Amino acid sequence: MTKSSSKNLHSFRDLKEAGTKITMVTAYDYSMARCVAASQIDLILVGDSLGMVVLGYENTLKVSLDDMITHTAAVRRGAPQSFVVADLPYMSYHLSLDETKANAAALIIEGGADAVKLEGGSGVRLEAIMAILECEIPVCAHIGLTPQSVRRFGGFRVQGKSPEAHETLLRQALALEKAGVFMLVLEGIPESLGKEISQSLSIPTIGIGAGRYTDGQVLVYHDLLGHSDLQPKFVRSYASLDSDITQALNRYCAEVREGAFPGPENVYYPITEQ
Ligand code: KIV
Repeated sequence: MTKSSSKNLHSFRDLKEAGTKITMVTAYDYSMARCVAASQIDLILVGDSLGMVVLGYENTLKVSLDDMITHTAAVRRGAPQSFVVADLPYMSYHLSLDETKANAAALIIEGGADAVKLEGGSGVRLEAIMAILECEIPVCAHIGLTPQSVRRFGGFRVQGKSPEAHETLLRQALALEKAGVFMLVLEGIPESLGKEISQSLSIPTIGIGAGRYTDGQVLVYHDLLGHSDLQPKFVRSYASLDSDITQALNRYCAEVREGAFPGPENVYYPITEQ
């Protein structure tokens, strides 16, 4: 499939420089991607949140690289011209640097992503990011409440609250920009920290539960559309798909049962009655 994204890495920095907020949303399959591509959203994230909202796991840890490749490729087919970032799942960038590079490349080559995202920003994670960048693969980093750290954090807990943790995250953000990431996702941190990091960097920051002052926002597709059984405090839903879908399904049941569906216009191969 030929693809020419209408946006590239520079577009997002240009938006930041112009003071225009960047909009990102997750998508996990062809039909979601088609809807996102038809909207004014700036870029798509194939997040490993697919483990929770699509596959029904309690966290993101069971999502595999194969899951991510399959879903990224489906999103690419639905949104051939969108800028697509794909998540590297848990344990796909934690072992050797060679494995990390091969896994990132698979998301680009097999999945058709434009860039990859991974969680963390210091020590071995920074080395992993630099190794991927050396393969000419753009990287979006993700710090703060990193869901793949749920076990170590002891739950999904806001990060960066103490002065020391604030300082650590600010230092990580600066190191990530210096390493060459093109974008930074800030999740689950105090608004003041989201603001300070965003003002300290030239690369765009994208917040989720990080307050009002990041350079853009990202939400999970299902949360944004009211198609989820969870409603975190930082989410605003712009539709009520769960109840719309249930109502539509019930209308269908009723019409089948009362003989109103299929109607004459739905007959695929009419046989003229003699
Ligand atoms: O997996 C995901 O959807 C994410 C966003 C919540 C940032 O990482």
